Amino acid sequence: MASCPVTSRESTSAVPSYDASDEQVGRSLDRVRQFIDPRLEAAFRLSDDAPARLADAMRYATLAPGKRLRPALALWAAQACGQPGSDATSLWNAAAPAAIAVEMIHAYSLVHDDLPAMDDDDLRRGRPTCHRAYDEATAILCGDALQSLAFEVLAAGMPASAAGRACLTLARAAGAEALVGGQVDDLAAERGWMLARPTAAAEQIAWMDRINRRKTGALFLAALELGGLAAGADAAQQAALAGFGRAFGIAFQIADDVLDAEGTESAMGKRVGKDADRGKITYPTVAGIAAARERARSLAAEAVAAVEPLGKPAAELAALACWIVSRDH
Ligand code: IPE
Ligand code: IPE
Ligand code: MG
Ligand code: MG
Ligand code: MG
Repeated sequence: MASCPVTSRESTSAVPSYDASDEQVGRSLDRVRQFIDPRLEAAFRLSDDAPARLADAMRYATLAPGKRLRPALALWAAQACGQPGSDATSLWNAAAPAAIAVEMIHAYSLVHDDLPAMDDDDLRRGRPTCHRAYDEATAILCGDALQSLAFEVLAAGMPASAAGRACLTLARAAGAEALVGGQVDDLAAERGWMLARPTAAAEQIAWMDRINRRKTGALFLAALELGGLAAGADAAQQAALAGFGRAFGIAFQIADDVLDAEGTESAMGKRVGKDADRGKITYPTVAGIAAARERARSLAAEAVAAVEPLGKPAAELAALACWIVSRDH
């Protein structure tokens, strides 16, 4: 199995076939941000029928300094699946509507996740959460509008031949069987909505994987699939992206849960220590920090292996998989 050249802050010895250093991944993500932020900004130029308070809240939540991982996956998936002779700029342009749409869905999910009725958080991306900066009603409506706008951008921006499939993919990833269903089950343990709370560690891990696959993994998978679709990926390329995304999503959420237990508020830009306080079932609370880190690293290696058939154009995807399990934010 392939491994991450940089799998943790302690282990940096292996020679990478691509540069997965923090600096290199940081530079790659900066390029994504420089590409996508002006396009997000442009998508928020709405007519006067969108009240200024609502449009401001949408901009506030989405353009805040997040990592832009989902746009990165869409753009880098397109880059990894381009036909011979296609240049990176046209592949990124083709995948731009997908990259914008997935970041809007993500931003909406964060605004709602932070609401007092859900995780009740005050800090997001280093700033007051949307409902703190505005108010709860505006935050709810901002999330609603971001979700609709995501589909509008995708339907209007993708070629007609791909738009239906693209909207179907995003709708499934954002819906009751995926993101929203995962969010409900994430709350179920702490709210007593479960008929039987899993008690054995193996059952708890299976429960958690199922939550993480839906609440977090599904949108990453959609970002990859949409990027592939924009580049005209064939079935084998889409299968490689899907294998990558399945492992990446679970690894990413385990790393988020580890950082909730061990990270700092200043690096994360959000409150930490909240999962244990609320009695959430997470990998670190069930299996311990060391096992959680180990599982995340092994999933990252699985993700790297999955995109090996795509060769060098998938180097940024592979580097990102390694980075997400060694990051501090
Ligand atoms: C946070 O996602 C929400 C989870 C799925 C854990 P990110 O860590 O990608 O958040 P931003 O976009 O960088 O703010
Ligand atoms: C949120 O998971 C996943 C979403 C779909 C928004 P968390 O609740 O762990 O995310 P943070 O830690 O608040 O970013
Ligand atoms: Mg949550
Ligand atoms: Mg939360
Ligand atoms: Mg978290």
